[in-house]
Amino acid sequence: PPPGRYEAEAAPAVCQGTIDTNHAGFSGTGFCNGTNAAGAYAQFTVNASAAGTATLGIRFANGASAARAANLVVNGSTVGTVSFEVTGAWTTWVTKTVTVPLNAGGNTIRLDPTAADGLPNVDYLDV
Ligand code: GCU
Repeated sequence: PPPGRYEAEAAPAVCQGTIDTNHAGFSGTGFCNGTNAAGAYAQFTVNASAAGTATLGIRFANGASAARAANLVVNGSTVGTVSFEVTGAWTTWVTKTVTVPLNAGGNTIRLDPTAADGLPNVDYLDV
């Protein structure tokens, strides 16, 4: 896919929660604060010119006291799990790298939290 930054607050991304700006250090105009609930997801759409494997960077902050887990769902299929570790503060943003299979054309990449705490705050996806 073309290298680029896909902001969580910008369409066609979807944030099941609110777009917030209260924790400094984010990129763009805000970040996705997912609802604290299993299944309250953040979703990105990435276009790929050809099918293949892509390495993605997910920038997030987790100022809570425990890691938050999510399924990594590509085009509706769960391809892995991600554990978003504690970053120490909601203003401390880190990037986590994952590898996913992509189809040619548009792909949805969904971070689908598996526990009641939901997602960490999500800033962007880098391709
Ligand atoms: C706090 C924090 C939010 C965060 C939330 C959470 O309320 O201010 O930005 O999303 O915790 O637990 O997810």
